[in-house]
Amino acid sequence: MNRRAVRFYDEQPAPATMLEEVLQGLAARPRRIAPKFFYDERGSRLFDAICELPEYYPTRTEMGILESAASEMARLAGPDATLIELGSGASRKIRLLLEAMRPRRYLGIDISREFLRQSVERLAGDYSWLEVHAACADFMQDFELPAAAGEGKKLAFFPGSTIGNFEPHEAASFLQRVRRLIQPDGALLIGVDLKKDPAILNAAYNDSAGLTAQFNLNLLARLRDELGAEVDPRGFRHRAFYNAGRGRVEMHLVSRRAQDIRLGGQRFHFAPGDGIHTENSYKYSVDEFHALARGAGLRPRQAWLDDARLFSVHYLSVNTRSAPRVA
Ligand code: AVI
Repeated sequence: MNRRAVRFYDEQPAPATMLEEVLQGLAARPRRIAPKFFYDERGSRLFDAICELPEYYPTRTEMGILESAASEMARLAGPDATLIELGSGASRKIRLLLEAMRPRRYLGIDISREFLRQSVERLAGDYSWLEVHAACADFMQDFELPAAAGEGKKLAFFPGSTIGNFEPHEAASFLQRVRRLIQPDGALLIGVDLKKDPAILNAAYNDSAGLTAQFNLNLLARLRDELGAEVDPRGFRHRAFYNAGRGRVEMHLVSRRAQDIRLGGQRFHFAPGDGIHTENSYKYSVDEFHALARGAGLRPRQAWLDDARLFSVHYLSVNTRSAPRVA
């Protein structure tokens, strides 16, 4: 096998100060901890297991859409586009696209350096025809594409409905940032979870195996193990529900009794039933998502849905005629 070298660009920002952010969130009302803190090694493993659960339909539904539409997506992208994966690498989803598109160049972008390095090495090993670039960067902040990877038409890929974990105004600025990265003639292929029967949503975030509960409660274990917090995760329970008014699934950690969390020299008191808001997962209708995309200067070209209309994948191209509205 003729394995090509991976070109690696390190633009990793200074490590986020988890302690400061968590202290701020616990002092706020309502109390909150950002969902990005779910993903330590155990949290990432739990999330992978959630993706395989019978109740958690998004992963397999998106995969099914990609399987049936990959060649159409490749046709829309055209030959010679650089495929840019925003977030995790080496998933089955990106492999499907790579095989359908056979782009000359792939650029993986992720904030986790080691995870990125391992996944792009695997891709480079498996696809000897592919020029593999990797940039360790936080694509939630402004950053420039490495020059060598930035030539020609670009197709960005953002699967998994991770956009649903952003507040709508954050989702709008994220889409604007992607638009800047892929202009003048690029496109974005993005997975978006749809509004649907709340019973399906409630089951997806309250699985019978209890993995989503473990995923949520793992946040407290991280506070204890990494930040030295005095906290008993068993004193809290997982709560998730669809909030129809806000169009989002909310996850909370709810105190089972009166207790304190001690962290960084501070004491946070919880009465029974007091909660910490840990995640929002926004669900969109196709029209709502199209409006969001248009506001960011992206033109909806095609949307693929599964038969049960659970999930959508959108192909959005840079709209050269409209500048994005400033968020
Ligand atoms: C990563 N993200 C799209 C998942 C979601 O469905 O919002 C995270 C998740 N939270 C609970 N289960 C899965």
